[in-house]
Amino acid sequence: MPVARRDRLEVLIQRAAIEKRVRAVARRITTDFKGQQLHLVGVLKGACIFLADLVREIKLDTSIDFIAVSAYGPGHEPTGQVRMQKDLDSSIAGMNVLLVEDILDTGLTLSYLLRILRQRQPKCLRVAALLDKPSRRLKEVKADYVGFTIPNEFVVGYGLDYAERYRHLKDICILRLSPSEGPAASATSR
Ligand code: IMP
Repeated sequence: MPVARRDRLEVLIQRAAIEKRVRAVARRITTDFKGQQLHLVGVLKGACIFLADLVREIKLDTSIDFIAVSAYGPGHEPTGQVRMQKDLDSSIAGMNVLLVEDILDTGLTLSYLLRILRQRQPKCLRVAALLDKPSRRLKEVKADYVGFTIPNEFVVGYGLDYAERYRHLKDICILRLSPSEGPAASATSR
């Protein structure tokens, strides 16, 4: 696998374990929404691979849309300011909506998204997050479906990036940056 400069990657969750867990989460969602339609809203860009795998395992009448937000400023920590970069293509009023996130970290992004999506009056609004880092939470938010709870490490792969790199990795890996690099979150572009 191509690794930039002297960054080190340590596998945290292997591809096979991700596949198994995504199938299990999809089964739960299928059961919970049995007989109903489900509209998946993926949060770009990090959730695109999770959403692509999840939607193919959900045995329901589904549709998909995407939304993009930015949560990080030029500094190394979240600014607390979340901004919309790309809105949904269509209305979600009256629909069963499943918001699909890559990772729940401080919770700032999810809390913003839940607030604006609730205003659009979906019939139901639930959240599926591939990863959850509860120790980093600044806002009290929870996902209804969580793939894996992980420790406070910066992870890449399976859609998650560092400065747009490493999204293509099939495993989820802890990224240990070479000493010349700063902390990770500032360069994350979702
Ligand atoms: P929040 O802090 O919960 O608002 O998360 C904002 C976004 O930061 C997530 O959706 C990810 O795109 C990104 N992020 C947070 N932690 C990580 C990480 O460990 N690796 C890659 N991206 C991350």
